[in-house]
Amino acid sequence: MNERRASTGEESARPPSGEWPERADAAASPGVDRDQATRLIRLMQQTEHLARVGGWELDFTSGSLFWTDETHRIHETDPRTFTPTLESALAFYAPGSREVITQAVGHAQVAGTGWDLELEIVTRTGRMISVRATGQVMMSGGKPQRAYGAFQDITERRRLEHQLMAAARMESIGRLAGHIAHDFNNWITAIIGYAELAGQGARPGSPEREAIDRIREAAQHATTLTGQLLSLSRPMPAETSVVDLNELFQTMMPLFKGVIGGAATIRANFAPGSLKARVSASQFRQVLLNLVLNARDAMNGRGTIEIRTERRRHEMPLVAAASVGPPTGDCVSFSVSDTGEGMTPEILDRIFEPFFTTKPGGKGTGLGLATCYAMVKASGGHIEATSVPGQGSVFTVTLPAIKTPRADSPVGAEAAPSA
Ligand SMILES: Nc1ncnc2c1ncn2[C@@H]1O[C@H](COP(=O)(O)OP(=O)(O)OP(=O)(O)O)[C@@H](O)[C@H]1O
Ligand SMILES: [Mg+2]
Repeated sequence: MNERRASTGEESARPPSGEWPERADAAASPGVDRDQATRLIRLMQQTEHLARVGGWELDFTSGSLFWTDETHRIHETDPRTFTPTLESALAFYAPGSREVITQAVGHAQVAGTGWDLELEIVTRTGRMISVRATGQVMMSGGKPQRAYGAFQDITERRRLEHQLMAAARMESIGRLAGHIAHDFNNWITAIIGYAELAGQGARPGSPEREAIDRIREAAQHATTLTGQLLSLSRPMPAETSVVDLNELFQTMMPLFKGVIGGAATIRANFAPGSLKARVSASQFRQVLLNLVLNARDAMNGRGTIEIRTERRRHEMPLVAAASVGPPTGDCVSFSVSDTGEGMTPEILDRIFEPFFTTKPGGKGTGLGLATCYAMVKASGGHIEATSVPGQGSVFTVTLPAIKTPRADSPVGAEAAPSA
């Protein structure tokens, strides 16, 4: 028991004697027949692949390095044509990671220490991925003789952790903003109330009356803002109904044409038939309007905005968490894409945060996307954005689909959700 637990520590890579027995050859061991050995190997390969964990072994004396099939797969190399060496293996690591792993291996070779690191590699086809590299050393004659270890692709897990953290961050900022807005709202109500009273006593057209009217106007603006903030912390739509997104968005197209102006164009690319989801129509009008206005602002009056609606089916991905990611099963989605300035990964990371804006002071509140996020989430949906700097962005909203009623059901009747 001690030995097993110890296998995660550095010193512990060695058994108490400091020596390791030669690696057991499963097929040659008494009591393990060929069939069993074959089955064992196949099962290990399958589980390796499922967990995206490969293995490797390095002989310090001869310098030979062995990778299992999964380690090859993670590097996108072909085991039939690529024979790894220590040097070529280290070359896969991204700058920054390479120094760290080189040092770890060097230290292991001298002192017999192990390592457990999360690093980045660039695969043969040029993809940057995150890996967990673990190594342990086997001693012989008191000297490090071989190292072996696990090599895991943790890119998806990292992405998910990142999403979960971003979602938690947004929710806490949203809650905080909501609490402040709630108190603030009470004070504004008092300001408006007293301004009304004072206004009644002031002569129409007098400077006093004029000033009081300005106070009331400013307070009304503040109410709109606090209303928006409040919707972030309790965004449940007051009234939802089964809405055909195609129909809802179609009626907005003339408005968009007026709004975008300049030499920019806007086009609709709607899936045929009706695309039904249970939402608040007024909120989803607002969501689409926010996305279109952002697209317009990103284009400087030139380029194309496309509004697209689609039916989709989402299977549960292998690495998933219930609170992030699109709904599974039958879905409807809509996206707004633009050919504007796009966003850097650093901006993309923060766009749904309340008050995050890159627009000059007075131009944007940074609440547009935070509001969209809260509304979509409250409807059981998911919103995400992808972007290439200099080329444009795509915002996609996915909602659980409502089954289209059968031909014999009354028009507008709601069927049970299909997922
Ligand atoms: N289509 C897009 N292309 C490029 N950047 C975008 C796009 N949509 C959003 N952004 C970025 O995300 C930021 C936040 O957007 P959001 O709609 O929340 O606020 P805003 O547009 O700045 O202000 P507001 O919507 O409150 O007037 C924007 O300032 C911009 O940097
Ligand atoms: Mg906006």
